[in-house]
Amino acid sequence: MPVITIKPAGVTVEAAAGSSLLEAILASGHVIGHKCDGNAECGTCHVFVHEGRKGLSKMHWAENAKLDGIVGVGSKSRLACQAMLKNEDITVELLGFASGM
Ligand code: FES
Repeated sequence: MPVITIKPAGVTVEAAAGSSLLEAILASGHVIGHKCDGNAECGTCHVFVHEGRKGLSKMHWAENAKLDGIVGVGSKSRLACQAMLKNEDITVELLGFASGM
């Protein structure tokens, strides 16, 4: 099972491969926006992936298109609802602002 380290708290959780990063973060008890329920439409689940990017599914056009319209996007950006976990550990940063609003 991949281990997800969630910053800034530094909490680690195990998650099942094949689940989304959003599901793993929510299961950990952390608060993260997900207004569109994982449809790559709201952008409120925008996170930075600091380590283990290859341990996530590739970005598809819908995620890429949504990220294009979000302020503060960088090379580490992913929509947590679209990033599916493989069998590698991930370090992710929850953003302190609603960047997808
Ligand atoms: S939950 Fe809306 S884009 Fe991820």
